[in-house]
Amino acid sequence: MRIHVVDHPLVAHKLTTLRDRRTDSATFRRLADELVTLLAYEATRDVRTEQVDIETPVTTTTGVKLSYPRPLIVPILRAGVGMLDGMIRLLPSAEVGFIGMIRDEETLQASTYANRLPADLSGRQVYVVDPMLATGGTLVAAIRELIERGADDVTAVVLLAAPEGVETMERELAGAPVTVVAAAVDERLNENGYIVPGLGDAGDRLYGTSG
Ligand code: URA
Repeated sequence: MRIHVVDHPLVAHKLTTLRDRRTDSATFRRLADELVTLLAYEATRDVRTEQVDIETPVTTTTGVKLSYPRPLIVPILRAGVGMLDGMIRLLPSAEVGFIGMIRDEETLQASTYANRLPADLSGRQVYVVDPMLATGGTLVAAIRELIERGADDVTAVVLLAAPEGVETMERELAGAPVTVVAAAVDERLNENGYIVPGLGDAGDRLYGTSG
């Protein structure tokens, strides 16, 4: 597994406002969307392309276009949905699948409650999006499902990661074709499984709920 932390002043600036508890939901949603677009730019650095011949108004030339099969974007319900538009903005031709996962707040174990994925992902590049890589349980379960269906290149795009979650993913997905792209890796997880300093509950902050 590879991890890529996007080191860019605009990423750091937007992330700081997301972390601020005074940032309201509307601003949080807009900034999360902008931040995902910046992360998506890095996350798609190895998106597969093929050569095409085209004619410009002046001459013929060779360029590239995204290859088939199309990439698949998979937001993890519910908070990952807040990252979907930012991904689609850069990959408008991508297909979208969904996985619903919930974590038990006591055991912190993830379980699947919804699954709308193509049955066969052979040869597909998949971008799975979830704002918080906390314990890693949710992403490990989701990525295993994608690889079992044949995905041969999976990139997890997250806003924030905890070192504990990164370690779990490295251990549980050792040797798997997985990359994590994050805006930052924070200090630690607290006893309730929240990332510290973090930004709180990403779903609640995106959707204006309070738990
Ligand atoms: N999920 C969240 O929304 N926030 C955290 O800090 C950890 C998991």
